[in-house]
Amino acid sequence: MSSPPSFALVDPDNQEHQVPEFPSRDGPQRLVAAATKQPRNREKIRLEPGHSPLDWAKLVSSGKDLRGVSQLGRYTLEEIRQHRTQEDAWTAIAGKVYNMTPYLKFHPGGVKDLMRVAGRDGTKLFMMTHSWVNIDYLMEKCMVGFLVPSN
Ligand code: HEM
Repeated sequence: MSSPPSFALVDPDNQEHQVPEFPSRDGPQRLVAAATKQPRNREKIRLEPGHSPLDWAKLVSSGKDLRGVSQLGRYTLEEIRQHRTQEDAWTAIAGKVYNMTPYLKFHPGGVKDLMRVAGRDGTKLFMMTHSWVNIDYLMEKCMVGFLVPSN
């Protein structure tokens, strides 16, 4: 049996490691991505310096408060609607409510697209564009609570 595709990764001590390719060629991420319609001629967003996915990972693990609330709460869509400016942008995705403000400039799809879901339930748009993105993991530290039905 042939070994799975891999590439060489050089660590900070200059040691080379063969690591498996990710996403793997026939893995779920690529299958879903291939099945997602992509608009033609979409302009690639240029992220500002210091806003790469790696910079986001560093910020998330820095211990800095990214939620802006002291504890998780239960929010209705009416409450979420009050948070729709760039300085205070919340969205609900798959039943969880997130403060998107710290993430705006890190979003590979740009601030403008992300703001389309500010103050509302963004599940549909999120799933339509990139259902493979692991939002639970990526935005864990920005979660402010859970979406609950309005009375
Ligand atoms: C909190 C919600 C969101 C998060 C955490 C998020 C996260 C991400 C991530 C991680 C990527 C890179 C994906 C990859 O390279 O495979 C991405 C790309 C993208 N996102 Fe989002 N996204 C969110 C909401 C949205 C919304 C609502 C839209 C559209 C209205 C959108 C449009 C895009 C587009 C067009 C790209 C592709 C950018 C490119 O490849 O140039 N995103 N997003």
